[in-house]
Amino acid sequence: MISGMADSGNKQKISIDLDYIKPDTSFVYPLYSNEGEKLLDEREVLTASRIRQIRELYGSKIYYYIPGNSRGMVAGRVYHKAWNHTKRVLDEILSTDKFTPDAYRRTEDIINDIIEELKAKDMAILTLIKDMRSFDEYLYNHSINVGMLTALMAQKRRKYSEAEVKKIVTGAYLSDIGKMKLEKEVFNKPGKLTEEELIRMRLHPQDGYNMLKGLREVDPIVLQTILFHHERFDDEGYYGLPYETLPTSPKIVSICDMYDALTSPRPFRKAYTPPEALKIIAGTIDKKYDRQLVSDFINMAGSMLNNSQSFYRRGDFCQLNTGEVSVVSDIGTWDILKPKVIVFGRFENTGSRSSLRFFNNPIEVDLAKDLNRKMDGIMMHPKIIEAVRIKLKEKKMLLDYLYSPKYD
Ligand SMILES: [Fe+2]
Repeated sequence: MISGMADSGNKQKISIDLDYIKPDTSFVYPLYSNEGEKLLDEREVLTASRIRQIRELYGSKIYYYIPGNSRGMVAGRVYHKAWNHTKRVLDEILSTDKFTPDAYRRTEDIINDIIEELKAKDMAILTLIKDMRSFDEYLYNHSINVGMLTALMAQKRRKYSEAEVKKIVTGAYLSDIGKMKLEKEVFNKPGKLTEEELIRMRLHPQDGYNMLKGLREVDPIVLQTILFHHERFDDEGYYGLPYETLPTSPKIVSICDMYDALTSPRPFRKAYTPPEALKIIAGTIDKKYDRQLVSDFINMAGSMLNNSQSFYRRGDFCQLNTGEVSVVSDIGTWDILKPKVIVFGRFENTGSRSSLRFFNNPIEVDLAKDLNRKMDGIMMHPKIIEAVRIKLKEKKMLLDYLYSPKYD
């Protein structure tokens, strides 16, 4: 029995290596010894002296637990084959510093298996496996999850041949392979990276490209997908390249990468739920990704990954491209990003401050029909949401919509 854990049988045990923990870090989960003794409460600060003390008494591995139901339903057999393959290939790169033609051929086989398996699945019940067995193993799971999401999205867009889909998914699966060039301490660092570490981290698309470009077997689509997967719509990506000139495949990978990263638990933060992650992604429109791509991803993920439920609800506050603020009155049916809303105010900048001016007469707008107004995100900040709700109550405006949405 693990002390302090009521239903340990339903949880996954995740290891953390004390060597990679920066002193004065706090964790969102309580930490335990291998024998189940509680070492630290959640959010208690792990000081340098505490780290030393724990290492002396229990060795360098400590553990935390995440809910067992975070494991998904996709193709266990294929997933585990892919997982073992990924581990083998990454270990091979670590020891030889090379990505071999044979490893590439095996990667293509794995991608074929994943794509075939996904085709056979009932997409309505699909969730991705979040089987992060240890902190060190994050990259294996992340590679496979990003590959699976990219496969779904590339197929859904119906713009690519089957051969092209396979190349894009191979690129997605290998997109972070350049991280193997990073020192383990940097790769696994739970806290914020230093400026210098950040520069090294940002080399991983180039490093991945360099590792693969010499192989005859590797298609240019795969190389492009790896090289450009951290570029952004506002041209503020790793290399600051002009977004509109880039191919679509790395942009698809980038958005899938963000979704998987957000919905995966990390020692320093809990996993976001799928609706929370989709809200965050909706807030990246015309900043990190273009509107069409976000719309395609959200409409795909909204129905497949979120049990066919929308990621927002009637009563949520929705920001518009006009700077206006509205409340959702009816969720979009054919395009999730085009709900019916009631526009009730506008953010205005006065000096360095931004304040919300309320309209005397709110306007009802169907975003599917209004050509000038577009959704720019769902309001997420709890303090701002509460302040707007209080103001609306005071003004006795839109009282029917003032409830507290819960996404547990
Ligand atoms: Fe990456």
